[in-house]
Amino acid sequence: MTTDIAAYLPLCDRLNLHHELPYTPDWSAAPDFLELIVEHCLADKPETVMECSSGLTTLMLARCCQINNRGHVYSLENGLDYAEATRRHINRHGLDDYSTVLHAPLEHYAINQHDYSWYAAAPIPKKSIDMLVIDGPPGFLQRHSRYPALPVFFERLAENAIVFLDDAARIDERELVDLWLGEYPALTHEFIETERGCSVLRVSRHSGD
Ligand SMILES: C[S@@+](CC[C@H](N)C(=O)[O-])C[C@H]1O[C@@H](n2cnc3c(N)ncnc32)[C@H](O)[C@@H]1O
Repeated sequence: MTTDIAAYLPLCDRLNLHHELPYTPDWSAAPDFLELIVEHCLADKPETVMECSSGLTTLMLARCCQINNRGHVYSLENGLDYAEATRRHINRHGLDDYSTVLHAPLEHYAINQHDYSWYAAAPIPKKSIDMLVIDGPPGFLQRHSRYPALPVFFERLAENAIVFLDDAARIDERELVDLWLGEYPALTHEFIETERGCSVLRVSRHSGD
């Protein structure tokens, strides 16, 4: 279902965002997913937000970091044009200090004997992650397109880190969440009935994990 740009206005008012948005019909995160990640970011004030994909999510999370006077959003973006477009929007909104869009072309990963195309490792900063938002790479690329996010980032998730997976109502995402839960016992999972479904995974490491 295509979301009308007017549906984003309440969030824009809440965050005082009044310039043009990096909005692409059908591709931008839906307002209810954005609301979840915005509310978490404002309440929890994470230091490091890592994001798979860039766009409206990046802009809103960067604005939250500015409001919080704390935190930085690192967004992995495979498309050079999308990376540049997001950077322009971030700059136009005066949020350069709160966001870095990393152009990370897709590269080959072999994980548990399966092949994936996922964001190039080289530009990814080696930081402890407090909040991970997964809205890419696009699902049409391959089966379980977003699965590599946790094999790549799990060891870097901070104690009490939180992960938001968009489009989690899709069969593909349900399957990959099941794979993660089997592989990382320190994760707990909550499914939230947003327009496209949101899986929220929390890390609680105990000694020995
Ligand atoms: C689902 S989009 C989400 C982007 C971002 N999280 C947002 O809310 O705006 C995931 C990825 O799809 C790609 N993308 C965005 N718009 C697109 C379009 N119109 N056609 C094809 N790919 C697109 C970009 O590489 C982007 O990172």
